[in-house]
Amino acid sequence: MCLRADGKGRVLMENPNWPLWNVTIHTPRLTMRIVRERDALALVELAGKGIHDPADMPFEDPWTDLPSPEFEQSMLQFFWRCAANLSAQSWRLPFAVYRGEDIVGLQDVSADDYPVRRCVNTGSWLGQSYQGLGLGKEMRAGVLNFAFESLGADRAESCAFEENHASIGITVGLGYEPNGEAVTNRRNTPARDLKYAMSASGWSHSAAKEMNVSVSGVDDAVRRQMGLA
Ligand SMILES: CC(C)(COP(=O)(O)OP(=O)(O)OC[C@H]1O[C@@H](n2cnc3c(N)ncnc32)[C@H](O)[C@@H]1OP(=O)(O)O)[C@@H](O)C(=O)NCCC(=O)NCCS
Repeated sequence: MCLRADGKGRVLMENPNWPLWNVTIHTPRLTMRIVRERDALALVELAGKGIHDPADMPFEDPWTDLPSPEFEQSMLQFFWRCAANLSAQSWRLPFAVYRGEDIVGLQDVSADDYPVRRCVNTGSWLGQSYQGLGLGKEMRAGVLNFAFESLGADRAESCAFEENHASIGITVGLGYEPNGEAVTNRRNTPARDLKYAMSASGWSHSAAKEMNVSVSGVDDAVRRQMGLA
């Protein structure tokens, strides 16, 4: 274990045994780091205050429908599974998103067979009181920068139910192209899921690339952990 300072002079503990913990993404207003235990507990508390109107379901996996305490426990298990199942063949990196000292939400980026396919998927949520402020766009721009610039992605994909105007607004606003649709069983009702994709050439013209984003901590140890070196 060794110490280093982040951009704001705070001392961070670097752990060579889990290199991904050293990755930090800064956007103009946000700091993003892979979820650790204290972040997981804070995210459970934030999510418990509400992510969406209970009448709606923006997620394909309806995890927010679970009653307490299964809701809280399944969230913790999700974070532990992300770490436990990480491999070159399949990974899902959950980034805790902070605005100053406040945890505001989660942005994840995932891939299957990444060393060959070079394609990532993203998913996200913000606590309700942090929605509608443009933070969702910054979070997505942050992980897109990480994927395309730090990991050499060729493609990013995203999907959202047709009525999720904020999610689709981010996707389209950042320059993804339409990529088909699917019908999903949502609470036993068919729901139209719109798919979008951004190529590496789309990334080079994306508004996300213009945003002031910096990524630190991606080194050979991180690439090895992800099966890239
Ligand atoms: C989806 C989510 C992450 C978006 O983050 P956000 O910070 O609230 O969204 P933003 O404020 O950045 O808005 C995104 C864009 O959509 C646009 N938008 C938002 N609501 C809209 C609406 N009803 N109609 C049209 N456009 C809309 C915004 O104007 C913005 O576009 P702009 O940057 O060009 O102005 C957030 O709302 C959330 O957590 N929702 C609940 C969980 C969820 O839906 N997760 C995603 C599942 S796919």
